[in-house]
Formats: sequence, structure tokens, C-alpha cells
Amino acid sequence: MSSTASYKAKEFNLRGLKGISDQTLDMHFKLYEGYVKETNRLDEKISEFIKDGNVDQEEMPAYSELTRRLGFEFNGMVLHEYYFENLRSGGGIGDPASNSRFYKAAEDSFGSYQIWKADFVGIGKMRGVGWAICYANPATGQLSNHWITLHETGNVAGFDPILVMDVWEHAFLLDYKPAERPKYIEAFFSNVDWSAVENRLQRNLGTLRAGA
Ligand SMILES: [Fe+2]
Repeated sequence: MSSTASYKAKEFNLRGLKGISDQTLDMHFKLYEGYVKETNRLDEKISEFIKDGNVDQEEMPAYSELTRRLGFEFNGMVLHEYYFENLRSGGGIGDPASNSRFYKAAEDSFGSYQIWKADFVGIGKMRGVGWAICYANPATGQLSNHWITLHETGNVAGFDPILVMDVWEHAFLLDYKPAERPKYIEAFFSNVDWSAVENRLQRNLGTLRAGA
């Protein structure tokens, strides 16, 4: 389904990450802008099909293909926003503070932060093209880690993305070899903006309290 909203690419002032070059970021921002543009273009094209209030039989194949592609482009846009927003210009502190909300949520959900991290990193190392995402369940506040194929397969409906890691090769190919994904994952962790992660978790817990 399409909407008539037009999306604008966000600006990210990310610079000087540890182990992820500005050149990689510039290329990645351009790719992200491509997803925004394509999302808007698909929205417009799909609107054309439905403006007469009906999808004709002969329009169905093209309509179906565009609508499937919208799932890819739309999630590609949104996941990149989560990704850039959970990185910190100039680099971060590595792991979160042990008294942080996230650290405690990881302990509650996995037994320890280290086990949570082993799971998240393990997912990030999975062969294939996609994302590692830590979600919070708004019904319980529990964290769970998931593999997303491409941009759209594996997202958990209704769960809130808390930490989002792009593991497509374009995220690191200018800085590392394809087989060096573990080095990129290490670099990713050294740049996480844990305050952004805390804010997402706080919003999720707010939902939990409001619903209780
Ligand atoms: Fe990406």
C-alpha cells in the first residue's frame, strides 16, 4: 500500500568514526538518499494505479511488483536512519555503562550483557546480505536479536528497533575486505551512541507503562 506522504532524506553529521572512514560514510549517505528517492518514486507510481479507486486485472502484475519493491526500499530508508542515528560522531566508548538501562535490559533478557553481545555479534557475522537488529518487545520490555535478510525479511512487527547494525558489504568494503566483517563489527561497537540507544529503550518502556 502506498501513501501520499513524501519523505525527505535526513542529514547526519557523522564524522571521524573509529575504523569506519568518512569516505565510507559519504558513500553510505548517498546510498541512503537513493532509498528515500526510490520510496517516494514508488509511492507516486502506486498512487497512479489506485487513483481511480480500483486496480484493474491487467495492472495487477506491475502493481504487485512495485508494491513488493516498496517493502525493500521503505525498510532500506528507515533502517539506515536507525543505523546512522545509533552511531556517534568521533566514536563512542565501546560497551555501554553497567548501570545503563540497556545493560540491565540485556541482563534481564539474556542472563548477561556478554551473552546478549555474543548473540548480536554472532547474528552480524551470519553469511548473507542484511542487518543485525536488537528489538525491544513493547509488551514486556524484553530484548531479542534478529537477522534481517536484505531490508525487509525478518523484521518483527510491532517491536521497537533499539540497536541497528548494517552488515551489507557496502557498510565496510572501503575499509575492510569482504572476509573481515568481524573487524567492521568491532569498529561498529566502538562507535555506538549508547545515549541514542537509551532513549529508544526509554520510549519503549514508556509504551510499556502506558499500556500496563
Ligand atoms: Fe547500508
